[in-house]
Amino acid sequence: MTKPTPPSIIALDGPAASGKSTVGSRLAEALSYLFFDTGIMYRAVTWIALDHDMDLKNEAAMTELAQNAQIDVRQPSQKDGRASDVVVGGKDVTWDVRSSDVDANVSLVSAYAGVRQALSEKQRNIGMRGRVVMVGRDIGTVVLPEADLKVYMDASAEERARRRYDEIIERGGKADYDEILSKMVERDRLDSTRAVAPLRPADDAVIIQTDELSEDQVYARILEMCK
Ligand code: DC
Repeated sequence: MTKPTPPSIIALDGPAASGKSTVGSRLAEALSYLFFDTGIMYRAVTWIALDHDMDLKNEAAMTELAQNAQIDVRQPSQKDGRASDVVVGGKDVTWDVRSSDVDANVSLVSAYAGVRQALSEKQRNIGMRGRVVMVGRDIGTVVLPEADLKVYMDASAEERARRRYDEIIERGGKADYDEILSKMVERDRLDSTRAVAPLRPADDAVIIQTDELSEDQVYARILEMCK
């Protein structure tokens, strides 16, 4: 009997802090697949725009930036909780792209059709090579609708805010739970109501509600689907 082959293109979508990146990077490692967190690209474009004092309301400028930005995502160089290094213009911006300033502006930049087109095309080119776990908001619906396995990970805003809070405290930072929660609810609203590629599960996605599940349990479920 031949051994069944695992799905080659795996799409993991869901809202902020639903655990996609943690579970996705573990899965990619177990399968020896590429792990690709597409949110990093939207974050990097937003970070560059803020760093250069650009007008984030200027859709044409943001689109041009997304088309031309050289964003490098490499194997992690440090063990500080990162799944990969994010390098822009030779500078390691791994944690800069996760700043609260970027958090507050990334939904605006990622709602622009031109920005989405430029970045989705780059993501699709990488995804179509296969043997990839791609994480985002619209991977199963828009970027790679032909994905072999689509999983949509969800959790209540309260649970996701708690996870984000714990993450910041663990890294030695300061955090305010209520502030994280209200910003998360606002980002969910913007991501799921935008006109282009809004956050939603694909019709053929397996939905996993993770509130009551540990990271290990979610991981085990998805790994099981790959067998
Ligand atoms: O997953 P994240 O929090 O790092 O994503 C940052 C933002 O990027 C998120 O608010 C919405 C956007 N995003 C998107 O629109 N499409 C994707 N495929 C990934 C992220």
